[in-house]
Amino acid sequence: MEYQILHPSVTDGVMVLTISRPQALNALNSLFFTEMDHLLSHLPQEVKIMVITGEGKAFVAGADISEMVDKSQAEGEAFSLAGQAVFRKIEQLSIPVIAAVNGYALGGGCELAMACDFRIASTLATFGQPEVNLGIIPGYAGTQRMSRLIGKGNALYLMMTATMISADEALRMGLVQKVVAPELLMEETLKIAKTILSKGPTATKLVKEVVNLGLAMDFDAASKQEAQRFGSLFKNEGEVGMRAFLEKRKPTW
Ligand code: CAA
Repeated sequence: MEYQILHPSVTDGVMVLTISRPQALNALNSLFFTEMDHLLSHLPQEVKIMVITGEGKAFVAGADISEMVDKSQAEGEAFSLAGQAVFRKIEQLSIPVIAAVNGYALGGGCELAMACDFRIASTLATFGQPEVNLGIIPGYAGTQRMSRLIGKGNALYLMMTATMISADEALRMGLVQKVVAPELLMEETLKIAKTILSKGPTATKLVKEVVNLGLAMDFDAASKQEAQRFGSLFKNEGEVGMRAFLEKRKPTW
């Protein structure tokens, strides 16, 4: 499939995926979801980690309002479910996915960033869930991810007031993990990607799987599936890493 909005580029196992519809501040339209769904289902084997970013002054300024305005109730619900399914696919991808947030991450844009494993932000980034300004609510599971990520009080504050916050404020709330100068955003994000790639590859996959599965379980069941995967690394990648430590050398995975 020829992509119009997505611009993937792969170097040394890292796919940098740029969302490029700058004339509409990268607002997410149905073509974006078609392309994203296709890309997620056809990721080349060589891709070991994905970085999502936006072109221009926005990461993503939300769902495309012009596509939503005329929808019926049933169409609105279907639109929400379809977007949720694609964001869930991102979240459940077996490889790490990092959001490199270069600018506006509003509405569906903030929801996309939250579907990634973690977020590195430029000082120019702005975050918010301004849907109530439009008389709607977040529809790509942002209500659920945000309250889990930054707590109910912070999430309801942002969603009820539509306040747009700076990258530093997002850092304080735990919505992003690191804030860097705009010119260093990609360099810093790629450095983090490289760090992850140097670790036990199965372990980094499993840690994501265990956290995501566990969040949907009660504590005891969640801990049990952690133990099961912990065990699966023994006589396996775990032995390679632990033996290398004891022999004071770097592991070869
Ligand atoms: N949908 C469609 N078009 C959008 C858009 C969006 N979410 N955000 C920006 N655009 C378009 C503008 O309409 C404008 O197009 P024209 O040049 O054709 O007029 C272009 O992008 C540039 O935008 P602005 O002129 O508004 O740029 P600005 O710098 O003055 O303002 C902004 C930037 C504060 C981000 C402002 O564009 C804005 O408030 N955008 C909407 C943000 C928003 O409400 N997002 C939530 C959407 S709803 C949602 O996401 C629901 C969901 O969860 C499923």
